[in-house]
Amino acid sequence: MNNKFIIVIFGGLGDLAQNKLYPVIYSLYKKYRLLNCTKIISTGRRPNVDKEEFLKILEKSIKTHDDSFFSLFDFVKFDLEKEEEYNHLKNVLSNFKEEEFIFYLATPPTTFETIIKNLGEFLKSFPNKRKIVIEKPFGYDLYSAQKLNQLIKIYFKEEEVYRIDHFLGKETVQNIFGLRFSNIIFEGIWNRNFIDHIQISALEDIGVEGRLGYYDKVGALRDMIQNHLIQILSIVAMEPPCCINEKEIRDEKIKVLKSIREIKREDVPLYAVRGQYEGYLIDENLSQSNTETYAAVKLFIENLRWDGVPFYLRTGKKLKRKETSIIIVFKKIPGLFSKILDCMPQEDIIGFKIAPENKIILSFQLRPLGGSMLSCPVSTSMEWTGPNIEAYETLFMDIIEGDQSLFIREDEIEKSWEIVQPILDFWKDDPNIPIYPQGSWGPKEAEELIRRDGREWRYIDG
Ligand code: BG6
Repeated sequence: MNNKFIIVIFGGLGDLAQNKLYPVIYSLYKKYRLLNCTKIISTGRRPNVDKEEFLKILEKSIKTHDDSFFSLFDFVKFDLEKEEEYNHLKNVLSNFKEEEFIFYLATPPTTFETIIKNLGEFLKSFPNKRKIVIEKPFGYDLYSAQKLNQLIKIYFKEEEVYRIDHFLGKETVQNIFGLRFSNIIFEGIWNRNFIDHIQISALEDIGVEGRLGYYDKVGALRDMIQNHLIQILSIVAMEPPCCINEKEIRDEKIKVLKSIREIKREDVPLYAVRGQYEGYLIDENLSQSNTETYAAVKLFIENLRWDGVPFYLRTGKKLKRKETSIIIVFKKIPGLFSKILDCMPQEDIIGFKIAPENKIILSFQLRPLGGSMLSCPVSTSMEWTGPNIEAYETLFMDIIEGDQSLFIREDEIEKSWEIVQPILDFWKDDPNIPIYPQGSWGPKEAEELIRRDGREWRYIDG
């Protein structure tokens, strides 16, 4: 982008700003990607923080002292819950006549409506171009997401709205696109004729990490599946877009979401299970909570490419280890042919490891070294590993450049809430939540969910 811009960060003293945004902004600055950025305005309301104090926080966040970088910053102290205090910000912004405004809402979701309304109102008197970046969670359920979208529409055009899902900025997730659409060998087998099922997992060894106020109201299904994992599913399953632009890519993704089989409320136990890790109440000092720290869901996409292929999505906290992955499990070779080999070989697999490291593996069957020609084949794998670029850095650049391809459109957000809503409704009325041991792979009910179908959960590294 050649035009000048400024960045305004709401929640400038919060965890997200300190842990992710400032380091990413600094990295872009060091790469000369912020040459057109005239100012970065951070806002916060903490009583004892002024500009000097703020710069100390910034220094801690980027882990270095850099006066020229610091000079890019302003700190505006204001309470975003108070309408009258928006004037402080309005006055500061009125100094920037030509710049585009990039507003970044790095604040708790409870503040989104107030910020959007107040910001939208005072911006009416500004001619400047603008973009608004909204962090997850976007809504608490289908109704609140629709309501938030309606409010945004009053003040902003859809092409000004960047709903962030940081998983889409991850290298491996974008590599799904690369692998699928630039290789004829994969595209030919990417369908129900060859693929048995797909597993998308975001397993974590950490717990709630001081975010109880948010997490206990939300739980694993809302926190990870409604957004991150359903987004990944839509990229894995989409048709090739006619051309690479944000509209066409998102049009193809929404088609996938619209084709997902609706889960009837009474059928929820057949499609979804949840769990809470043993000790959650003690760790978080709660007397009672039905919040799930684990969720697994089975979804079907009813279209020509995917009919009958289950997509298993799962996520959980305090599990054995961190593994974020997509595993494409191919069909077994027909029994008739396995007779030639006198055994039933393992299924072939394409695995995308998203975290902790960025790698893609292709696992296939070969005769064991030195074995006879008819020996039972063993799994052999080829692996590609690559460095990881911080997802927020990729996304931040896209915001600056005005590329919305990796951001969630209004209709995608609402459709993904619609997919999980029956599960949320069913769980709300069901007091029984399975408990799983810390350090395990989740509740036994999740094992049963997949075992019932004659399958098992897979892991990329054994
Ligand atoms: C966030 C969730 O969106 O993603 C967290 O709110 C989760 O609960 C995190 O820990 C996982 O992301 P990453 O990039 O660390 O795998």
